[in-house]
Amino acid sequence: MNAAIAKLQPSLQDQILALKKERGAIILAHNYQAGDVQDVADFVGDSLGLSQKAAQSDAPLIVFCGVHFMAETASILCPDKKVLIPDPEAGCSLSDMITVPALRQWKAEHPGAVVVAYVNTSAAVKAESDICCTSSNAVKVVESIPKEKEILFIPDMYLGSFVREKTGRKIHLWPGYCGVHSQIPADLVERMKREHPGAEVLIHPECGCLTPQLMHADQILSTEGIARRPAESKAREFIVATETGILHRLVKTYPDRTFIPILGGAVCGYMKRITLEKVLWSLEDLQVEVKVPAEIAAKAKRAIDRMMAIG
Ligand code: 13P
Ligand code: SF4
Repeated sequence: MNAAIAKLQPSLQDQILALKKERGAIILAHNYQAGDVQDVADFVGDSLGLSQKAAQSDAPLIVFCGVHFMAETASILCPDKKVLIPDPEAGCSLSDMITVPALRQWKAEHPGAVVVAYVNTSAAVKAESDICCTSSNAVKVVESIPKEKEILFIPDMYLGSFVREKTGRKIHLWPGYCGVHSQIPADLVERMKREHPGAEVLIHPECGCLTPQLMHADQILSTEGIARRPAESKAREFIVATETGILHRLVKTYPDRTFIPILGGAVCGYMKRITLEKVLWSLEDLQVEVKVPAEIAAKAKRAIDRMMAIG
C-alpha cells in the first residue's frame, strides 16, 4: 500500500472505537491484556472489577478482553446482554485444574465443608461451589464463613495458603496452580530485593514465592491492588511479581516511578491471544458469544452473588 493510501486508512484503534460507538458496546480489559488492547478499553481492571463493571453497565454488548472464565462470569451476571470474547481459545490453565467430577469426589470426602471457589474456575465448577472469591476479596470471603466450618479452597494452592495464613482457618487446599505465577520462586524475590534495596515488592497471591515470611513482609495484592499501590506508597521503585501485562498500566499511570518485572517470561499466553485485530473482528461479526447453560448459570450465580455481596 502506498503511503498516501495508508494515510487514508483509519487505524485499527480508530475502527474499533467507531464501531464500538455504533454498536453501543463497552470494552472491558483485564490488567494482563496487551497494552494496545488496554488502550481501547472503557475499563481496565482485575477479575472483581471487571465483573462489577459488567453488572453495572447498561450497554447491551460487552466485548470482554480477558480469559474465558471471566467472560463467563460477565455473561452469568448479565444474562440480557451479549458478551463476546474475541478469541474463545483464551482459556486459563489454572481453571482447568479442577473438574466437576473431581470436586464432587472431594466434597464427598469432606461432608459439611464450605467450598470456596476462586473465580478462576469454569461456570460448571462454580455451580458446585458455595461461594466465589477473587484475589482481592479472598480473605474477606473466608472470614464471612462461620468459624466452625471446614473450608475446601479451589483451585489455587498459593492463594489458598495465603488466605489460610491470614485467617488462621482450617482450609484444605486443592493442589492447583497457575503455570505463569508458580514459576516465580521465593529465592528470586530475595535476590531481587538485595539487588534493589529501596524497592517495594508487589506480589500477586498466585505466585509460587509465597512463603509465610513473604506473606507478612511484602504487599500481596490483586492485579488492581498492584495497579493502585504506587499512589499510596513512598517508594520510587517497585519489583512487580506478576504477569508482565500490568507493566503497561503501571508505567502509564506513574511515569515518575520505576517498575521492574521480576520475571520477563511471566507472560500469560492465554491473555495474549486477544489482539486488536480480533477485537475489531469481534465487533464486526458479533462473535464469539459466551453463553452459559441456564441451569449451570443459575447455580453459579448464587456463588458469585454471595461474593459480590461481600465486595
Ligand atoms: P486478578 O483477579 O488479581 O486480576 O487475577 C486474575 C488472574 O487470573 C491472575 O492470574
Ligand atoms: Fe490463568 Fe495464570 Fe493466565 Fe491468570 S495468569 S489467566 S491464572 S493462566
